[in-house]
Amino acid sequence: MSLLDIRVLGDPVLVQTTKLVDDVTPELRRLVDDMFETMYAAKGIGLAAPQVGRLERLSVVDVDKQPIVLINPEIIESEGTIKGEEGCLSIPEIYGDVERAARVVVRAMGVDGKPFEIEGRELLSRCMQHEIDHLHGRLFIYYLSALKRRAAMSKWSKEKEKYPGNVRRLTADEVAAHHHRDEEL
Ligand code: NI
Repeated sequence: MSLLDIRVLGDPVLVQTTKLVDDVTPELRRLVDDMFETMYAAKGIGLAAPQVGRLERLSVVDVDKQPIVLINPEIIESEGTIKGEEGCLSIPEIYGDVERAARVVVRAMGVDGKPFEIEGRELLSRCMQHEIDHLHGRLFIYYLSALKRRAAMSKWSKEKEKYPGNVRRLTADEVAAHHHRDEEL
């Protein structure tokens, strides 16, 4: 397994729509493993393929020590609304409140190639919605009010200088020292 570079806001790959995965190849399984390793190293709870520069319709999630692979995921039921703070591994140090469905049911294909459905509430619901958004080029900052988005972008204009070429490279030192928040998706 290997750590992948994380693409940060400004990289055009983050606003592209991904392509449906036809079948689970050994190469795709390797990508899944690398995405989990990268997500854990970055202390995240979700990571979508575009965040590592790939356009497969694939996200990985682990909210509560339960690794979930979502290939070609679709929200088939949603219910209620709830507001909560989000962050994103592709927009480090930027946080904002986002209204999401309180409960969702997602249909996806697993890494075994079989379809399954999963119900999410609370953080799992929020995380799956955030990751599915990534697969359609949508970032959480789009949901912020104009005022909050402007403030976030002003902060990001300084933060982004840490990421030349829009690349966030995780080093062993950074991984060890990273002061993390648990809500980064
Ligand atoms: Ni994200």
